[in-house]
Amino acid sequence: QMVGKQSKTIGILVPEITNSFFSTLVKGIEEELLHSGYISMLCNGGFNGAKEEKALLELAQRGVDGFIIASPSISDEVLKEILQIKKRPVIVLDQKTTVERSDEVATDDFNGGLLAAQYLKKMGHTKVAVVVPDLATVNIMHRLQGFLVEFPQALQLKTELSKNGGQAVVAELLDQKIEAVFALSDELAFGIYLGMRQNDKSVPDDLSVIGYDDVEMCRYVTPALTTVAQPIYELGKQAADLMVKRLADPTSPYVKRILPVELAIRGSVKVKI
Ligand code: RIB
Repeated sequence: QMVGKQSKTIGILVPEITNSFFSTLVKGIEEELLHSGYISMLCNGGFNGAKEEKALLELAQRGVDGFIIASPSISDEVLKEILQIKKRPVIVLDQKTTVERSDEVATDDFNGGLLAAQYLKKMGHTKVAVVVPDLATVNIMHRLQGFLVEFPQALQLKTELSKNGGQAVVAELLDQKIEAVFALSDELAFGIYLGMRQNDKSVPDDLSVIGYDDVEMCRYVTPALTTVAQPIYELGKQAADLMVKRLADPTSPYVKRILPVELAIRGSVKVKI
């Protein structure tokens, strides 16, 4: 049995630690793990497949008891290979691209996209756009699908998943005279804010913006960002909880938990009259 050989260390891999979605997520994971007697070893993948692969190999070599992976670039084959080495359990969440079977925790992304669209509709907007990250992972695609239920004709703009990426689409949003934009993450929305300011335009008078995540900064920007709130910290805690349970009972059936999302209404969407 594994008892006695455990390092009581869990490897965590996220794509971008400066994005506070991921730092809040890691905080939830870390606190829950610590509570159960495990220490975390954190790696930042940087949306780079080779770096992610190296990180996972190094973590495996250091004898982690399991992996919590919220990073998009790793392929199924690589993941399988690495995880086969010592048969360590893995929990995948959020930026998941693999189809490998494992325990899983997710939030209700489809409903999140739908909630955003219904709200923009209720506020009277018809000419809408949605900003989609280039490397849109399954969770993000579900948000898009939910949104398109209400706005199948929405203009879709692709960009990097970052503040820079958001800033880069503003010219196009203004050119196309878009009334309201759904940013598929808050980081993108913050970039749009900056781009609007640089063009001497204001949110929400010239453009309504709705984000996704509900990171802490949403309440500090002006106007405060209306967004779809994911329970980010709880998502991290649940991932850690699944890992601890899996290590205690390696042969139990895989579980999948879905956490709800809700709309956080603030000041970035105006009523169209
Ligand atoms: O800001 C990071 C985004 O990508 C979040 O919406 C998160 O869910 C992730 O997939």
